[in-house]
Amino acid sequence: MTNPTMLVTGATDGIGLQTALQLAQGGARVLVHGRSEARAVDAVKRLGAAGVKGAVPVWADLSVMAQVTGLAEQVRRHTDALDVLVNNAGVFMTEDERTADGFELTFAVNHFAPVLLTHALLGALEQAPAARVVNVSSVAHARGQVTVADLPVPRAFDGYGVYGASKLLNVLFTHALARRLAARGSRVVTFALHPGVITTKLLEKGFGMAGASVESGARTSVFCATSPRVGASGSYYSDAREVPCAPHANDPALEAAVYEKSCQLVGCAPL
Ligand SMILES: NC(=O)c1ccc[n+]([C@@H]2O[C@H](COP(=O)([O-])OP(=O)(O)OC[C@H]3O[C@@H](n4cnc5c(N)ncnc54)[C@H](OP(=O)(O)O)[C@@H]3O)[C@@H](O)[C@H]2O)c1
Repeated sequence: MTNPTMLVTGATDGIGLQTALQLAQGGARVLVHGRSEARAVDAVKRLGAAGVKGAVPVWADLSVMAQVTGLAEQVRRHTDALDVLVNNAGVFMTEDERTADGFELTFAVNHFAPVLLTHALLGALEQAPAARVVNVSSVAHARGQVTVADLPVPRAFDGYGVYGASKLLNVLFTHALARRLAARGSRVVTFALHPGVITTKLLEKGFGMAGASVESGARTSVFCATSPRVGASGSYYSDAREVPCAPHANDPALEAAVYEKSCQLVGCAPL
């Protein structure tokens, strides 16, 4: 049996680098995503220094949707079948910035890029025997609020509010994706998770605090990517166990509305 192929976005630092390391140590062939070729190649070298062989660098600025599509093309050049996609990359912005696509930057990287990348890679995921899409959300989703009117630019900007909204969008997308994959009889399943409060540059910049180690921060992503003990598609995890998401993340009407609008904005056909 060949080793499973797993893509981790934002694998150049923090939780993502550690997730790539732990997945590789578990036997995966890891595609290591970075924002640039230099960042991705450097991360592969660091993994190599930790004993990882065969990791593959791939790159894209996830705030640019054309580059997200380009990332999917790179991945398809490396593999026909993708066993796991970990949508891990994320930002916390303190300033209101627009991307070239006219999206608010936090929403672009944290929400629109995962939506587009997941759809662009669905063919490769469906070539795998039992693929998983793992969306790294946050407990901050519980404090987030969003409506379709906030897409692609939130009606009001404050860093915490927009970050929380982007993480709520991750959970809503996971539910929408799970529902639609099941309806089309797909073997692909999807999960969302909170990695813990983990010392990384995102935590330091966004929250000005320290947390637990990146080793513990990767644990729930690795669990969702590989464990046979995961629950139903669409479920939410913290500390490597299924927990309830915030009640307002279980809103089928909101979930459908933001899913449809997001697909329209990134230019992919809804499932
Ligand atoms: N740390 C926590 O306590 C915590 C808690 C809850 C959820 N999370 C979530 O965990 C995930 C990982 O965050 P982290 O804490 O590990 O943060 P991090 O150390 O800052 O890592 C973020 C990763 O995303 C990449 N990235 C950011 N913007 C990008 C862009 N435009 N294009 C391509 N890559 C980009 C970064 O690349 P560079 O290295 O080049 O910047 C880095 O590899 C995020 O989704 C975050 O929301 C973190």
